[in-house]
Amino acid sequence: MGTGGRAEATRLLVTGAAGFIGSSFVRLALREPAPVSALVLDALTYAGNLENLAPVADLPGYAFHRGDICSEEDVRAGFDRAEAAFGGPVDAVVHFAAESHVDRSIEDPAGFLRTNVLGTEVLLRVARERGVSRFLHVSTDEVYGTLGPDDPPFSETTPIAPNSPYAASKAASDLVVRAYQETYGFPALVTRCSNNYGPYQFPEKLIPLMIANALEDRPLPVYGDGRNVRDWIHVDDHSRGILAVLRAGEPGGIYNLGGSAERANIDVVRTLLRLLGKPESLIQYVPDRPGHDRRYAIDSSKARRELAWTPEWTFERGLEATVAWYRGNAAWVASVRSGAYRDYYERMYGEREAWMRRV
Ligand code: NAD
Ligand code: TYD
Repeated sequence: MGTGGRAEATRLLVTGAAGFIGSSFVRLALREPAPVSALVLDALTYAGNLENLAPVADLPGYAFHRGDICSEEDVRAGFDRAEAAFGGPVDAVVHFAAESHVDRSIEDPAGFLRTNVLGTEVLLRVARERGVSRFLHVSTDEVYGTLGPDDPPFSETTPIAPNSPYAASKAASDLVVRAYQETYGFPALVTRCSNNYGPYQFPEKLIPLMIANALEDRPLPVYGDGRNVRDWIHVDDHSRGILAVLRAGEPGGIYNLGGSAERANIDVVRTLLRLLGKPESLIQYVPDRPGHDRRYAIDSSKARRELAWTPEWTFERGLEATVAWYRGNAAWVASVRSGAYRDYYERMYGEREAWMRRV
């Protein structure tokens, strides 16, 4: 797909955008008044779903390349494809691709280190070779570890102290990005965001899992005492924050992003049940997650001050809209839960699953 008369568009290579947050970012970026072209480089693991990008798939500024960020060959091919599609070199990389679920990282730390650390380094290496002018690494507040009830929220200067294999892999990737900045003067920026919720989130994370289970009158598994606290942000506010950092952030800088909406898990679950008109008897307390971080809270005053970014969604309104989205998109949920979404790529592109056996 070419850009036609859009020669002045900013050309982005966006990794992992068949997933939850990256797809929100691409849906948003391609509809911005300032023209943007985006090639999505994604391996389409269990978390990648091209249906998430269907709303923009026909736009002229969109292109897709299936590839693994751990493979230098795949990453080079992604850059080449973007250059061919958009008629010029990639200006910036926005890096979402990762293994993202803490519970899975407890089962398989090595897979997380492979994609999140080694994959990030491969991407940095090729992006540096290609001379991109910006590289935005999407990270998480989980790198800061856990807070006590009276601790101040994490700031950009809070020392990193990750606890789960997922958080450790993200912290390690942040450090590799830092090494590229310091060693090669590579123009990287890092965002660290709190827990996201919103449409198209894979129903393994708290909010979509609870909605999907409640809709089917299945038990809602609450870990431990349900009093762990997360600081919630609507995914589209996160995406707008990433765009703001991409455009106006200082290379070498770290930007915390968050919605200032700390809630105990059990309160979130009860609110969801109320919105869905389902009974609290569906709640089932289950054994706690090992090493379960007690509380996250993020201070995003730097991004708000320096980039004039501010979240638009309140948690209450955002949760209502999210519940409405899941109610209205039962086919998406069913396709994800049954695994049918895995055929989408084959239907769209007519290639076989052989690729997946390689990784
Ligand atoms: P997700 O699991 O929904 O999507 C991850 C995407 O990356 C998928 O499309 C998957 O196919 C792709 N991917 C995985 N391994 C790959 C590989 N080796 N090569 C190429 N593509 C690969 O994740 P998400 O929730 O959208 O998170 C996106 C990013 O944001 C991650 O880096 C995550 O650490 C970060 N983040 C997430 C949250 C959150 O609340 N979900 C909060 C802060 C930061
Ligand atoms: P999750 O969505 O996995 O995000 P993270 O662990 O990255 O913060 O979990 C959010 C919170 O919800 C966390 O405290 C763990 C808890 N949780 C449950 O109680 N039950 C569940 O089934 C899941 C998936 C999470």
